Order: sequence, then C-alpha cells, then structure tokens
Amino acid sequence: MRGVRALVALVVACGCQGQAPEGGPGGSGGDDGLTPDAGDPQVTAPCATPLAIPTTGRALDLMPPARLAEVASRAPCVPAGPVRTLLESAETLWYDKHSLTPGYQDSFGDNVVAPIGMRPNTIDPGLIDTAVPGGHAQIFSSIGVFEFPFGHPLGPTDDVAVVDFWWPAQANGAALPVVYWKRDPNQYTHRYEWMFPIGTVFGEMLFIDEGGERHPFEIRTRTRTATGWAVDVLRPFPRATDLADAIEEAGGTSPALTALVTQLRGTAPLAAHSLGGTHFPGAFPTRTGGIEMLPALTGADSALVRGLLRTTPFRSARGIAWKQAGGKTAWAAGAAGRGTIVPTGYSAASVEVSEPSCDGCHRDAGRPFKDWYDNILAYGELWGNDEIFTWHPFTLSKFVDAQGEVVNFNYDNREIRPDLRAAGLVAPYVPTTHPASQYKRLVRDWTDFAY
Ligand code: HEC
Repeated sequence: MRGVRALVALVVACGCQGQAPEGGPGGSGGDDGLTPDAGDPQVTAPCATPLAIPTTGRALDLMPPARLAEVASRAPCVPAGPVRTLLESAETLWYDKHSLTPGYQDSFGDNVVAPIGMRPNTIDPGLIDTAVPGGHAQIFSSIGVFEFPFGHPLGPTDDVAVVDFWWPAQANGAALPVVYWKRDPNQYTHRYEWMFPIGTVFGEMLFIDEGGERHPFEIRTRTRTATGWAVDVLRPFPRATDLADAIEEAGGTSPALTALVTQLRGTAPLAAHSLGGTHFPGAFPTRTGGIEMLPALTGADSALVRGLLRTTPFRSARGIAWKQAGGKTAWAAGAAGRGTIVPTGYSAASVEVSEPSCDGCHRDAGRPFKDWYDNILAYGELWGNDEIFTWHPFTLSKFVDAQGEVVNFNYDNREIRPDLRAAGLVAPYVPTTHPASQYKRLVRDWTDFAY
C-alpha cells in the first residue's frame, strides 16, 4: 500500500498528464531499449510517467530505504527499456559508500606473523606505512580514495554524489548468486575471489550535488557477458546540439543562455584535453582529445538548465561525440564553473563510451599493488574483483567500524555476509552447480597471481 501511495504522490508532484504506459520486463524500445521506437507512447512523452524506484519489497536492503527514497525523489527521466525496467525492479539492490563500505583485500601473509584480511579504503595511513614506508601516499590520494585512475575516475570533481545499483542476473525467477572461492596457492597468498553470473548489471547514478538539491546528469552501466562487461552511459544531452535544442525549446532567451546556445552550435576548435594516470605506473595510458567548457550559470539560467536535467529523457551516448571540431573529439561536456549540466572538473571528455575505453580502469580491479610498485610487494590488492570496484561480499562489522577504522587487523577478518548467503545472492562456487553457460571467469595475465 505504501508503495502505491508513494507512486501516486510522485505522479501528482510531476503535474504531467498522459497515460502511464508500462514498459514491462524487456522494455519496448529498440534493440537496446534506448533507441527511439516509433509508436511507443513512452517515446513521444517519455517523462509522462516518472521513474518509480521502489523503496520496499527487496530480499535485502543494502541501503536504508529512507536514503534510497531521497535518491528516488531526484531520479532522472529514463524511457522504457531494459535500464528503466531494472531501475524500477525490486530485484535491483542499491548501495552507496555508507552502506557497502569500500575495501580491498590484503592477501599477502600467513595470518600468524604477517596479518591478512579485508581493509577499508579509509585505512589509517600508519598501518600501511609501518609495513611499507610511504606506501599509503603511493596508493591513496587522500584517506579513503585511491590515486587516479582508481579513485576520482570522473576527474577532480568535488560536487558529485554517486549511488550504485546491482541487478543480480536471474534464472527461473530467482537471482543467480555471485559465486566465491578462496585461493591459497602458497603459504603467503590467501585471497577470496568472486565472479558475477552472466547478465549481472552494475550501474552508477551520478548527481551534481552543490550542497543543495541533487541533479542527475548521468547513468553508467556495466553488463556482464561471457567475455567481459558491455558498457553504456545514458545522458540527457549526448551532443552539444541536443542541449542547444532543449534550451531553445524551453524558451531560454536570456543573454547567458543565448550565448551558450551559440557556443554549443558553434564549430570553434575544441580546447585540447588530456587525461592520464598520475600514479600506478603503466595504468591508464594518457588519452588526448578535445573539451568544450560550458560557462558557469547562475540564478534563473541555472534553474532552467537544471530543470532540463530532470525532464529530458536520458539516452545512450554510446558511440556519440559531444562535439567534434578542429580535428578534435570531445566525448562529453566539460564545465568551467558551477550551475551547469556537468560537474566542475568532470573529465569524461576523454572517455569514450566503449568497452576498451571503460576497461582501461575496470580490468585492474583486484590486481596486486606489486604489479605497479615493487616496494609494495608485501601488501595487498586494489579494491574490487571481476572488474567491478565497489562491491565485495564481506561482513562490514568484521573489518571496519563506524569511523572507518580497521577492525581486527591482526587476524583474517574476511567473513562472507550471512545475509547475502541467506538471500541466495552469494554462494560458494561449485562448478557442477554453476555451469560455464552462466559463470565464465575473466582471466587477465595477472589474475591467478601468487606472492
Ligand atoms: C579512470 C578510470 C575509470 C574509467 C575510464 C571508467 N571507470 Fe567506472 N569506475 C572507476 C572507479 C574507480 C569506480 C568506483 C567509483 C567510486 O568510487 O564509486 C568505478 C565505478 C563504476 C561503476 C560502479 C560499479 C563498480 O565497478 O564499482 C560502473 C557501473 C562504472 N564505473 C561504469 C563505467 C563505464 C560505463 C565506463 C566507461 C564509460 C567507466 N566506468 C569508465 C574507474 C573508471
């Protein structure tokens, strides 16, 4: 009942008219559900029915429902299709850094003299520096944040809020578990590995958060295939001209917006932009391209553009350049200041939406630090596994306290969460029960490392 009332309230708040065509599982869009499909009422008025993210009815809440409700109230418009279907599904589990505390494994040691276990990213620098002098500064840019490219992947932004979602692949009406196993190739290597079933979707919903309301500006997705992860990014304005069109349609005629529209439609050469690794030698070779900086907007101009972020249907930016000019390509907008459609410092201009581009960072989830720093041989591994960073199956209270400090440093504190196991979302890997048609390892040259 509460869910139904909440939905009604949302529809009323929207004030939009029109029927509420249901996408239904599988959606009703084009091939990927995101391309316009003539005759689909959602396409002619895709925002008529606001996205309804359920806040109840899950097998397990990773994130408190009240916090999810705040996210849901600021969700963007997503047309019918697979992405909308899973955002509206109670099978989809949402989490943020407060609810699934990020961490990484230290698998080097014997658990007697040399401690092993799960460490929060917010580990006290002293605990690393005691083992590896200066080690913390090599791998972390600040407490809790890895150096680029494994922390701040969106660039040096300070006004972004991220919420993640996880849709466990389903078979016969039930979630397929993430499977895990422990690898002990020698006396000094003890690591938990896991693998997501084919079809699993991870996503992040990105909001500009300048200390007031949240404004959605992007959804990124990774979908597990047998050989990797298929990627997509949904944005309200994949091209510069899409934003120009939307401002004109909304009647934006102030001097600042008129100048912005002229800039967006213009073909002046793009400024040079490059993005490269600062630490982790050999990771993330420098990418060069162009960028278009959008001017800061204030007052009614900002309000108009920010309103468009919530009322314009998000669509795939895969293979679409924001702008090409002067022999350079910008894959996304940049921002010279606040109040516009992307956060300041946003560096996606150099990040094409394609598997090779996105894999440039994701392929290294779970990789041992020794591959980048030979002085950090005796330590641990980058966060994540199976090419996903933010997810892990470990019981939070066994390795981290409410202040982000390490719990149980001196003995192996890795416990697979009983609630995930009870909900059937995680299970020990048994190759006969978890066939290769559903579970296929991604093997890189370092994957089965030993210390
Ligand atoms: C510069 C490195 C880098 C690039 C390039 C990159 N990512 Fe990520 N991605 C990360 C990091 C680091 C995280 C964890 C972010 C956080 O702190 O929440 C992440 C998180 C994610 C997540 C949430 C699940 C997870 O792995 O934790 C999704 C989904 C995602 N990225 C999609 C993409 C897509 C799609 C692309 C390509 C358009 C992409 N990423 C490109 C580094 C990168």
